[in-house]
Amino acid sequence: MLDKLFFRKKSQEHKIDLDDNIPSHVAIIMDGNGRWAKKRALPRIAGHHEGMKTVRKIVKESNFIGIKVLTLYAFSTENWKRPREEVDFLMKLPGEFLSTFLPDLIKENVQVRIMGKKELLPLHTIKAVDQAIEQTKNNSGMILNFALNYGSRDEMTSAVKSIAAEIKNGTLDPSQIKESTIEEHLMTHGLKDPDLLIRTSGEVRLSNFMLWQLAYSEFWFTDVYWPDFSENHLREAVSQFAQRGRRYGGV
Ligand code: FPP
Repeated sequence: MLDKLFFRKKSQEHKIDLDDNIPSHVAIIMDGNGRWAKKRALPRIAGHHEGMKTVRKIVKESNFIGIKVLTLYAFSTENWKRPREEVDFLMKLPGEFLSTFLPDLIKENVQVRIMGKKELLPLHTIKAVDQAIEQTKNNSGMILNFALNYGSRDEMTSAVKSIAAEIKNGTLDPSQIKESTIEEHLMTHGLKDPDLLIRTSGEVRLSNFMLWQLAYSEFWFTDVYWPDFSENHLREAVSQFAQRGRRYGGV
């Protein structure tokens, strides 16, 4: 395996050494599908469809280079404001992605998860993701975590509500609330915080994505639109991450 990794690395523009500090959790805001399509005089949904193919490439590469958790922002709680046809199309993509690639993900030992308000998704989307979650639940390789109908403020609001309910029913005393109490009530419970956040398309903002969890993450931005994001861009981000010094507020 190591030989293969080394061999393949030699052919890449951005080489990653075996002893590099590979980020354990990478989160990606996949942005620019619409502009990618517009540049080609195509409908926006063509950009999303192309973006789905990029998801497949990047999942494979992330797993290959040893990333343990890959969280992808696929649909936000604010994305419902988009035109109906676009929302409908985006809701069909998880099903299309999984019906095409689930056998490969199973072979690659990837475990599929989702975070977000699942119950508000269309039934066909829920069925597709539930099937993938079920069929990959015992896989021990990379966790592929789709943020679907996810919003960080919504996540925090739900966390506060459930903490308040525990206080009300007497199972929690306010004096016991610690940072770990909040973490336990977030949708990422059990996952390490992202080490690296990538956002494509030249936008430099968080757009309600993992506001708690990204407190100490390294950020990496690129002007490249998501459908054009390649394995080599991922490697570039990962190699830059490896060179950064993280101090977490210390010296
Ligand atoms: C943002 O680009 C992208 C989205 C809101 C959707 C992201 C979805 C995918 C990449 C495909 C998901 C695939 C699976 C498997 C779930 P934008 O539309 O805001 O682009 P723009 O800013 O250029 O208009």
